Amino acid sequence: MQIFGVDIGGSGIKGAPVDLDKGDLAQERHKVLTPHPATPDAVADGVKQVVDHFGWTGPIGVTFPGVVTDGATIRTAANVDDSWIDTDARALLGERLGGLPVTVVNDADAAGVAEMHFGAGRDRRGTVILLTLGTGIGSALFVDGVLVPNTELGHLELDGHDAEKRASSKAREDHDMTWEHWAAHRVTKYLAHVEMLFSPELFIIGGGVSRKAHKFLPHIEGIKAEIVPAQLQNNAGIVGAAMRAAGH
Ligand code: BGC
Repeated sequence: MQIFGVDIGGSGIKGAPVDLDKGDLAQERHKVLTPHPATPDAVADGVKQVVDHFGWTGPIGVTFPGVVTDGATIRTAANVDDSWIDTDARALLGERLGGLPVTVVNDADAAGVAEMHFGAGRDRRGTVILLTLGTGIGSALFVDGVLVPNTELGHLELDGHDAEKRASSKAREDHDMTWEHWAAHRVTKYLAHVEMLFSPELFIIGGGVSRKAHKFLPHIEGIKAEIVPAQLQNNAGIVGAAMRAAGH
């Protein structure tokens, strides 16, 4: 079975039909640049361009980089335009797409669902936490494979700051930190804090940095949980969005 997945990110809006049996894209994905400011209207146009590129007319799952309740309503928008807050994104996107059924899901939750089913978290029981270290920090918490949605662990307080401002990949770039310094100080401290709260068996590190795991994972020490990079990398959000739309 195929469902369309779209991932709304800080720099790009990417999508493709997803083969739900394989957990992979059924066609090469199409990407348009995220408009700035990333208002609901402008982003909806971007999503439409991506979907129209494939002439898709079936159900669609869409990720959003903020809290999303009931597959529809946006509650927070830390790294996109504030005017998203309280928007019914399902209604907005559905209408823009000519009435196609749309399900909206938090981006990290989508990536987590895909990783638990097809990637680094496959067959893992107990408490598993996926963290995406990107522009912000996204989190997905699983207990025996079941998602607790919208955990927002990127906004824990760390050294008196919003954690994502200290330990995201953007923080590393903004402050010109070496991979080693970022990993050994910022990421380690953040993981230790999350570990103190949840004692997970496994951390899965996602986001763009998962491709560069060899540069930073060796510098993270003193965490009891196993730490592994995500496996679906850039496609986890698209695959997970389609899975949520299919009822996973
Ligand atoms: C948002 C999360 C999102 C994460 C990654 C955070 O700032 O609050 O909802 O998952 O960024 O995009």
